[in-house]
Formats: sequence, C-alpha cells, structure tokens
Amino acid sequence: MALSDTDIETFREQGFLAIEGVFRPAQMAALRSAASEIVEGFDVDAHRTVFRTDDRDSGRDDYFFDSSEAVHCFLEAGALDADGSLNRDKSLAINKIGHALHDRETTFRTFCSHPWFGAALRDLGYGAPVVMQTMYIFKQPGIGGEVRWHQDASYLISAPPGVTGVWVAVEDATETNGCLWMQPGAHRLPLRERYTVDWRAREGRLETLDDTPWQGSEPAVPVPVPAGSVVLFHERMPHYSSENRSQKSRHAFTLHVTEQLVEWSPLNWLQRPTLPPFRL
Ligand code: FE2
Repeated sequence: MALSDTDIETFREQGFLAIEGVFRPAQMAALRSAASEIVEGFDVDAHRTVFRTDDRDSGRDDYFFDSSEAVHCFLEAGALDADGSLNRDKSLAINKIGHALHDRETTFRTFCSHPWFGAALRDLGYGAPVVMQTMYIFKQPGIGGEVRWHQDASYLISAPPGVTGVWVAVEDATETNGCLWMQPGAHRLPLRERYTVDWRAREGRLETLDDTPWQGSEPAVPVPVPAGSVVLFHERMPHYSSENRSQKSRHAFTLHVTEQLVEWSPLNWLQRPTLPPFRL
C-alpha cells in the first residue's frame, strides 16, 4: 500500500490529499533536466501556440489537439511581444509541455512507471489504472500565469466518470510562487463546465452547466508542498493556482489517470487513437 487508511479517508472526505516526501531530490532533478532538454529542442518559430485559461479556452488549435499523442510545448502569454517575438530566453517562456510525455519521453515514461503511482491509485479503488495525459508545468518566475478555477472533469469526460489528478511538486510550491488552491469537500458539488470538440470543424467549446460562482460557495485553502510531494485530487475538485509572484519557478508534473475500461467520450479534446493504454 502507498496510502494509509487515514490518507484514503482524507481523500474521500476532502476530495484531495497532499503527501510529502514521496520522491527524492534526484528524481525531481531528472525530471527538470529532461524537461529542459525538450525545451532546448523546441522550435518556437514553428509553433507559437500560447496556453492561457482566461479566454474560455478559445485558443485551442490543432497543435494543442495533436498533443494528445505527442510532446508539444506551449508558450506563456506574457512571453510574447505585440509583434509575436519572444521577450525572454526560450527556457523561461514555456508555460507547459504536454500531453504524451509518459509515452514518448524515456525519463517521464520511467518516472510514471514508478510503482508508487499504481499502488496509490489501487488504494483509491482503481482496478486497472491507465495514464491518459501528462503535463510538465513550469509556472515561470514573474510571468507564470494564473490558472483559473476549474474542475478537471470538464476537460476529461468518461462514462462512468472517474479521473484522478496526480500532481507532483518538482520544485517547492508556495503561496507566493503559485501553489494549488482547493476547496475541501467541494468535489461533491456538480460539474460546472464541459469542454467538448466538434471534430468536423476541429473547434472546441466550453459550455457552462452550472453557474454557481467558484468562490464563496466553499472556503478555499492553499496547498503549499515541498518538492517531492504528491497531491492527489478528485476530478470534480475545484482548483486554482495564482500567477507566480516570485523570482523562482514552480515546476510541477501531472498525470491524469482513469480506469482502463471506462468509455472515453469521443467529444473529449484528448484522444489516443494510436497509442496503447499506459497501465500503472
Ligand atoms: Fe486542473
């Protein structure tokens, strides 16, 4: 077992669980250097796709959709000048890398194969957990943008529902550099939004299902954690992270896991028509 009975109980009650000291500094350093190698090889001129969450996801394009089965880099909005040129070094301009790092990059594949992940997910009740997507998130110093309140189930739709977010702190996450915020117990509230893609037009749309305001309904708490920690969270847990107001980055690596036998919606932006299931 990776989780204690108290951990499992906390996850069920709160909808999330933070566990410190799961991974060693050397393991986090290996992820950092693998991510920086990917950025090194990224051709900014070929793909100037920005990742932002303040536009009701209207900026999702083919480069984004195709990242379901690939390793693509997305820029920070604040890293581009009005004329579209980069205003800082490439290494400080990337918002995130996604979404098939676990399939395509050896270091991340090896890391995701660590037995802790499968054990933790089985402790939470999964029979055959599979990784649907992975992201390396930089939250760059100074410009690492806010990620608005949302629930991950809005973007990862399955029947029955059952995606779990696994958030690994590659670096220390603090209130100043943009740690996660969660609303304990709010995973019991309904799904507020749904993002689906019309594949004929290759266009995504975010629809509001329930307009209860994100803030105010439930108290929000920051979840600061040191590097090497893991935060597990329920797919309907509302979560948020502020912009990075510090001069230090706040790298994180995330996996989104589901049960292998669920029916994955064809309306999901994330489709894996050619890659085999990545079992934990
Ligand atoms: Fe999220």
